[in-house]
Amino acid sequence: MNQTIVTGGAGFIGSALVRALLADGAPRVSVIDNLNSGKLANLEEVRDRVDFHQADIRDYPAIAPLFQDAGRVFHLAAIPSVPRSITEPVPSHESNIDGTFNVLRAACEGRAGRVVYAASSSAYGDTEVLPKTEAMSPNPLSPYALQKLVGEYYASVFSKCYGLETVSLRFFNVFGPRQDPSSPYSGVLSLFMKHLLARTQPTIFGDGEQSRDFTYVEDVAALCIKAARAPATVSGRVYNAGNGGRFTLNQTWSALCALDGVSIHPIFAGPRAGDVRHSQADTAAAVRDLGHAPQFTFEDGLRRTLEWYRANC
Ligand SMILES: NC(=O)c1ccc[n+]([C@@H]2O[C@H](COP(=O)([O-])OP(=O)(O)OC[C@H]3O[C@@H](n4cnc5c(N)ncnc54)[C@H](O)[C@@H]3O)[C@@H](O)[C@H]2O)c1
Repeated sequence: MNQTIVTGGAGFIGSALVRALLADGAPRVSVIDNLNSGKLANLEEVRDRVDFHQADIRDYPAIAPLFQDAGRVFHLAAIPSVPRSITEPVPSHESNIDGTFNVLRAACEGRAGRVVYAASSSAYGDTEVLPKTEAMSPNPLSPYALQKLVGEYYASVFSKCYGLETVSLRFFNVFGPRQDPSSPYSGVLSLFMKHLLARTQPTIFGDGEQSRDFTYVEDVAALCIKAARAPATVSGRVYNAGNGGRFTLNQTWSALCALDGVSIHPIFAGPRAGDVRHSQADTAAAVRDLGHAPQFTFEDGLRRTLEWYRANC
């Protein structure tokens, strides 16, 4: 009953979580990933303590046996992109909704322990009030945001109807080492890192005054582990997993240029469909119920991330 499963464990956040779980004392971690965007290289230095299953969460018969009596499950596998969900809604829907249903069903039928689900702050959409609290009504603006919200509702319903313990964490713009900058769908900070090191101009969609609660990946991994350990009263609930701060894209690009001692002007393009204007987490509930305690300021995170990209890209 001790096995720990991470779906999407070869991805950016999933691989950071695998390292955090091993550092926290897990003897081994099972990873389920179809390597759609994940890479085995993300697990390189911990590979001997990882049981890797190249499997697709859309394929229930393939994944179901892996969940038998698992102690805890971290469900991060997804196609995690707002613009991609607009241009290619079908694969995004299938992995993010059908795949999530399969993971919850497999965990339930396999009598697994608690499932911690990677939900998304995109579920809030645009709100008049900041920071965003869990009591606000969701207002998804893209297929991706809706899909992640459906996953939360399913997690909550599995808790209520079938007694499967679940906790959903709404991640807010996670950044850090190993975030893949190779696609136009990549997270903005990974693209900023790539342009900074190449000394090229990044493209900012909109006026750059949109703001984000950038959260360092190790803080997110630590919160996932805390969510798996919190008392049973949290089951079925949804928590913000942010840092609590807010920086515009213009501020962020300027801060990065300052860290590297350069001045490069971004290119501005039209705003992208589905993008939220401002995002900032109210972290009070996660602090109170889960013991959330972010260790990294935005600047700490930027420095560490830049060092990693400089050494590895
Ligand atoms: N990065 C962020 O800022 C952010 C914000 C909110 C929520 N999230 C959520 O966090 C999770 C991890 O995101 P990430 O940024 O690490 O992305 P990522 O693309 O690096 O990781 C996703 C992983 O899921 C795997 N995957 C995709 N479809 C699969 C399928 N059908 N079967 C098995 N594996 C599959 C990919 O190969 C990849 O390893 C996702 O659920 C995402 O929605 C991320």
